[in-house]
Amino acid sequence: MENGPIRVGIIGTGRISDLHVLEYIANDDARIVALCDRNTGQAARKAAEWGLEGVAVDSDIDSFLARPEIDLVEILLPHHMHLGAALKAIAAGKIVSLQKPMCLDLGEADRLVEAAEAHDRPVKIFENFIFYPPVLKARELVDAGAIGEPLSIRIKSNPARSETAWVVPASATAWRQERHRSGGGPLVFDDGHHKFALAWHFMGQATQVHAFIGDCEGPDGSRLDAQSMISFQFPNNRIGNIEIVYSPEMELTSRHYPQDDRVEITGTRGVLFINGGHGRLGATPPVTLYRDGAITHFDVASGWEESFIHSTRHFLKAIRSGGKPVLTAREGREILRFASAAEQSAAEGRTIHLAP
Ligand SMILES: NC(=O)c1ccc[n+]([C@@H]2O[C@H](COP(=O)([O-])OP(=O)(O)OC[C@H]3O[C@@H](n4cnc5c(N)ncnc54)[C@H](O)[C@@H]3O)[C@@H](O)[C@H]2O)c1
Repeated sequence: MENGPIRVGIIGTGRISDLHVLEYIANDDARIVALCDRNTGQAARKAAEWGLEGVAVDSDIDSFLARPEIDLVEILLPHHMHLGAALKAIAAGKIVSLQKPMCLDLGEADRLVEAAEAHDRPVKIFENFIFYPPVLKARELVDAGAIGEPLSIRIKSNPARSETAWVVPASATAWRQERHRSGGGPLVFDDGHHKFALAWHFMGQATQVHAFIGDCEGPDGSRLDAQSMISFQFPNNRIGNIEIVYSPEMELTSRHYPQDDRVEITGTRGVLFINGGHGRLGATPPVTLYRDGAITHFDVASGWEESFIHSTRHFLKAIRSGGKPVLTAREGREILRFASAAEQSAAEGRTIHLAP
């Protein structure tokens, strides 16, 4: 890696790996050299689909991590395997990018934060939503004072159906249905991580969290933790909420998961709307600003894959410049704490207070 590209190895070539490889393939400063999956046939098929030549394919994580030619390990495994794989990658001296949520619970997260902070190479918790171009634009506008001081953030997750969405293998749904493998519900804890990360990104850490979490039948006999409402308070009299509604008969446009995500940030002077995420409800503009009696639309790239591309591009630059990954392990723990508080609140029927 000294002078050449950063050599990347990917563990887990399941559903989401297709979006993770995009920037590693396109960026001259990276080269995918090895894949690891217990399903080696799938890994070999993906290597061919991605146009990778001469990559090693391993079924065993230990043999994969023993490869000296890998500089950076991208971990795309079910959640119960995150801690073990990340600790091993750190022990093997690798740069690490670990998918969200970092671990099953805060006890595991503490172990990982300690190992990450003692490691002399970067460890990133991969969170892509805050790199989604409409979110980057909204953040730029907030930082420029476009809506004054932000007072509230409202986030809506709206899974539905989509003829255009990609196919999610039954195996990827199965482990998400089991708490000992997923750590929490598919919408509040797993996908919800992105929404808690967005709330944290714009408003900082919440101090109080209260949640109702529902239960309903999802696609193909799965259970979904909807309809759900999570509300929170931030310091200085600021608030937010995440509303999760499953609309089984609503058709939307998506090339990835059949879900729409909308965000509304209200400030002392105006309101910002982010009008999409995974999918879209029609041809809405990606970002809309209301201020001083006028509406302004901002047209930025809005394909959801862009969020992965920008997140990885940022990390590759941070590795070269000695910059901080986004998220750090400690930040990843903060998001996990936020999501876990929602689950705890719903289970115990009370408000959870989070110390700063
Ligand atoms: N950032 C996002 O928007 C986003 C979206 C989807 C998934 N994710 C995250 O990505 C990760 C993977 O999710 P997915 O949907 O791709 O899951 P998946 O089930 O499709 O893929 C997991 C892969 O891990 C492999 N695997 C399991 N055990 C293994 C072992 N012992 N050794 C080697 N390989 C093993 C499986 O064969 C499978 O190919 C999860 O952490 C998930 O939360 C993030």
